[in-house]
Amino acid sequence: MRAHEEKFVCPHCAQLVTVSEEGRISCDNNHSFDVAKQGYVNMLTHAVQSMYTKELFASRKEVLESGLYNDVQRALASTIEHGDIVLDTGCGEGTHLARICAQAGAFGIGIDLAKEGIIEAARHYKEQAWVVGDLAKSPFPAATFDAIFNILSPANYDEFKRLVKPHGRVVKVVPAQNYLVELRQQLFAESEKESYSNAQTVARFREAFSHVTEQRVTTTVALAPSLVPHLLKMTPMGWHRDEQQPITLTHITIDVVLLVGINDEQ
Ligand SMILES: C[S@@+](CC[C@H](N)C(=O)[O-])C[C@H]1O[C@@H](n2cnc3c(N)ncnc32)[C@H](O)[C@@H]1O
Ligand SMILES: [Zn+2]
Repeated sequence: MRAHEEKFVCPHCAQLVTVSEEGRISCDNNHSFDVAKQGYVNMLTHAVQSMYTKELFASRKEVLESGLYNDVQRALASTIEHGDIVLDTGCGEGTHLARICAQAGAFGIGIDLAKEGIIEAARHYKEQAWVVGDLAKSPFPAATFDAIFNILSPANYDEFKRLVKPHGRVVKVVPAQNYLVELRQQLFAESEKESYSNAQTVARFREAFSHVTEQRVTTTVALAPSLVPHLLKMTPMGWHRDEQQPITLTHITIDVVLLVGINDEQ
């Protein structure tokens, strides 16, 4: 953290901060935050109740580590360069960011509202920095990042544009039509949730950035039976399932669109 103190501001008053040898982050107005022993810092200004639990992040980690999202991670790594500083907004348990930074030779900071996700990230991925915080009111100075990732998470484009360097990239990953389609077909057969459209999300992204490119990543892979319960737990889609309903999945499809916007406002 000390090596990166210039990349943080106080979330209360937006002043620059210093990090003490003991791992205390403080601003000139005496607001302060402790770096936890696991190596993350909680910079939330108010308590937040998250619906994302420790169990959910443990399941997400199992699924991400199984390689299901390898193609998505490779596509994201190809949007950045060696030496880039990237922010992952809504990073969850950190596997995407850790793998992408390792592939590209970049340094990453992950921010998430859910403390349980950040604890998991900090425990496993020591090369990156991890922050509990709100992506809409983030504790970083303007024009700090070469790229901002926003993977299957809520976004705040005004804040992303403030944070990204001039000509930097904002990369949002949104589900496409066949995302987890085998699961959706069984959970929501014949209801309107069986199909999914990302049209509104894509339109909002296109309104926020003048130069936008889209890259679709689609892959269907065989699923080990032991991963099925984790797949059900890792997504809100699986939470509303009738426990009696049998789910049989031998394959699963990852189908996403990477929206890449260039910040040309500054
Ligand atoms: C579906 S999960 C995706 C997590 C991770 N990007 C992944 O793909 O595995 C959505 C994440 O967004 C986080 N999130 C939601 N609102 C947020 C906010 N305002 N600030 C930071 N994180 C937020 C949640 O806590 C959760 O970890
Ligand atoms: Zn302050």
